[in-house]
Amino acid sequence: MNFKESTILITGAGTGMGLEAAKWFSEQGSRVVMVARNESRLKDEAAKLKNASYIACDLSQQDQLHSLVENIKLNFRDLNLVFLNAGVATHYALLDNSQAYETSLNEMLTNFHPAVYLTHHLAPLLELKEDATFIITTSGVALAPDLSHPTYSATKAALHNYILGLRLVLERKKSSIKLYELMAPLVDLLFQRLFYRILRYHPAQLLSV
Ligand SMILES: NC(=O)c1ccc[n+]([C@@H]2O[C@H](COP(=O)([O-])OP(=O)(O)OC[C@H]3O[C@@H](n4cnc5c(N)ncnc54)[C@H](OP(=O)(O)O)[C@@H]3O)[C@@H](O)[C@H]2O)c1
Repeated sequence: MNFKESTILITGAGTGMGLEAAKWFSEQGSRVVMVARNESRLKDEAAKLKNASYIACDLSQQDQLHSLVENIKLNFRDLNLVFLNAGVATHYALLDNSQAYETSLNEMLTNFHPAVYLTHHLAPLLELKEDATFIITTSGVALAPDLSHPTYSATKAALHNYILGLRLVLERKKSSIKLYELMAPLVDLLFQRLFYRILRYHPAQLLSV
C-alpha cells in the first residue's frame, strides 16, 4: 500500500491503539482522520501530528454516525482505509450485576453496530479506490469468553462473525476492498492496566501460564 497517497479514518483515535496507529500512519505520510468522543483530547493529539484532522463523534448514536458519514463524503472523498478500532469493555460478573442489560447495550452499540453502519455506508466510497481497505479490531475473547468482561467478549464474538460474513460477500462480489481483522492480544495500554489492577496479573504472567 502507498501510505503517502492514503487517507485513513481511525475510530477510537483519542487514546491507546487508535492513537498509536494515527501517529504511525501520519509518520508514513498518510492523511489521518481521527474519530472519538472527547473533542479536546482529539484536538490536542491531532495538533501534534502531520496531516491529521479530527471529527468528534459518539459512535453509539445513530444520528452522529449519519453526520460522520456525510462529513467524510463531503470533506474526505479520497478515503481509502477505514480502521474501525473504537471499543468499550466493562468489568463485571454475569448474574452479579443488575445493570448487565444496560451495560451490554452500551457495549454492543459501541463495539458492534458502528462497524455494521460504517462498512455499509463507506464501502461504496472505498470501492472506487486502489488499496481500499477495512481493518476491524476484535480480540481473542471473540473465541473464548473472558468472564471478567462477559458481554464485551460477546460483542467481539459478534463482530468476528460479522467480519467472516462480510469477507465472504466481498469475495463473491469480486470486490477490490480488502478486509482485515485485527484480533488484538492484551496490549500495554489503559485497558490492560485496568485488567492488571483488577486481576493482579501482569500480561507477562498470563503469557507464561
Ligand atoms: N488494550 C488491549 O489489551 C486490547 C486487547 C484486545 C482488543 N482490544 C480492542 O482494541 C481497541 C482499542 O483498545 P485500546 O486498548 O486502545 O482502548 P482505549 O485506549 O480505551 O481506546 C478506546 C477508544 O475508543 C473511543 N471510544 C469509546 N467509546 C466510543 C464511542 N461511543 N464513540 C466514539 N469513540 C469511542 C475512546 O475515546 P473517547 O472516550 O474519547 O470516545 C478511545 O479513543 C478496542 O476495540 C478494544 O476492545 C484492546
